[in-house]
Amino acid sequence: MEKISIINAAKHTDERVKIGVWLSNKRSSGKIAFLQLRDGTATFQGVALKQELGADRFAQLVDLAQETSLWVTGTIHADTRSKFGYELAISDFEIVGTSHDYPITPKEHGIDFLLDHRHLWLRSSKPNAIMRIRNEVIRAVYEFFNDRDFIKVDAPILTGSAPEGTTELFQTDYFGQDAYLSQSGQLYGEAAAMAFGKIFTFGPTFRAEKSKTRRHLTEFWQLEPEMAWMHQAESLEVQEQLVAYLVQAVIDHCTNELAVLDRDVATLKKYTKLPFPRISYDDAITLLQQNGFDVDWGVDFGSPEETFLAEHFDQPVFVLNYPKAIKAFYMQAHPTRDDVVIAADLLAPEGYGEIIGGSERSTDYDYLKQRLLASGQDLGNYDWYLDLRKYGAVPHSGFGMGLERFLAWITLQDHVRETIPFPRMLHRLYP
Ligand code: 4AD
Ligand code: MG
Repeated sequence: MEKISIINAAKHTDERVKIGVWLSNKRSSGKIAFLQLRDGTATFQGVALKQELGADRFAQLVDLAQETSLWVTGTIHADTRSKFGYELAISDFEIVGTSHDYPITPKEHGIDFLLDHRHLWLRSSKPNAIMRIRNEVIRAVYEFFNDRDFIKVDAPILTGSAPEGTTELFQTDYFGQDAYLSQSGQLYGEAAAMAFGKIFTFGPTFRAEKSKTRRHLTEFWQLEPEMAWMHQAESLEVQEQLVAYLVQAVIDHCTNELAVLDRDVATLKKYTKLPFPRISYDDAITLLQQNGFDVDWGVDFGSPEETFLAEHFDQPVFVLNYPKAIKAFYMQAHPTRDDVVIAADLLAPEGYGEIIGGSERSTDYDYLKQRLLASGQDLGNYDWYLDLRKYGAVPHSGFGMGLERFLAWITLQDHVRETIPFPRMLHRLYP
């Protein structure tokens, strides 16, 4: 008898099979029992008859507690009444691991309770759907870049540099020297782009931000492509193509997951239409002012401003050329203006705000040195980075996309914490 996964039930219609499952719910009428069986790949219904199993075995089955693990054997039948389309007529079962008082019952639980039980909550249908979409997005990221001649380069996590500023660093002692958990793989990505042309880094990055917003984690996964011989305009095209590609991949491969999350596919489909609108920071300020926002030129946008701008265009929108004073040291100076840099953020609609930040990188040795000093950094940590400007510097651009920000938008979650298996936040290091 073949051991199968529930997700492949359709390929085994009318066959006898064996499946390892957890019992997620059940109801019984004395003669017939309906069991919700979950194996991680999917959940479907098992049907057990007292007449088939015998009174004792039937009673034993009906008595099992939520999350008991068991082998079930039986025959797969097409079942047009259920959403899944198939069910199992159970002929036998073997208990593998007992379970008592599983804390997450079918009733509603508060978010803090669920996060305290994240190690168990991952078994529930909604987290399961979100993590499967996360997996699909990761798969599609590799596919997108492999198809375009990028190679993946792994940046270190222990570093001596602070590319995004010195205020948000997790510091640790590195054999008597200060080290930080990486905020961004970008600086290493730039070195790699000079070695390999087009690269991406994709891994955990860290921000010791004491912010408690729904967009911030202290540990998040960042995708950071870096492209030699590329100016900002071309990088924006890569960014919008990437977003459209990832959205389409989720639409194509995650139909069930989107249904579990009540995510409207027609809305998602809109985000595959290119190009995305572009607006300069200057014009964005004017537009905000005209719509009653109390913002002056020079400020960084908060969540209400970002939400308004993306809603205004009803599409993801690039905001171009931010004030130099609020952006990172490495960004390319504007050719004719001293007050802005060649940078862009991509703002997602539906209230999700910045999902990508990127820029063209300065190739000017002296300018970078001066910008590093102005931001209070120790030049000694950046000699290697400045070397890249001494030996055949070329125009290059790149960007960073926060995986959890992107996923929160695509899966329509209120908070990025729901899109990473074990979220790390200001007040959460457990489980
Ligand atoms: O805008 P950020 O800080 O840019 C960088 O780190 C650049 N080095 C990227 C680059 O050009 N290679 O971060 C990039 C993205 C943001 O747009 C956001 O999606 C995500 O990373 N992000 C966070 N996600 C979750 N929690 C946080 N605390 C985040 N901070 C940034
Ligand atoms: Mg940013």
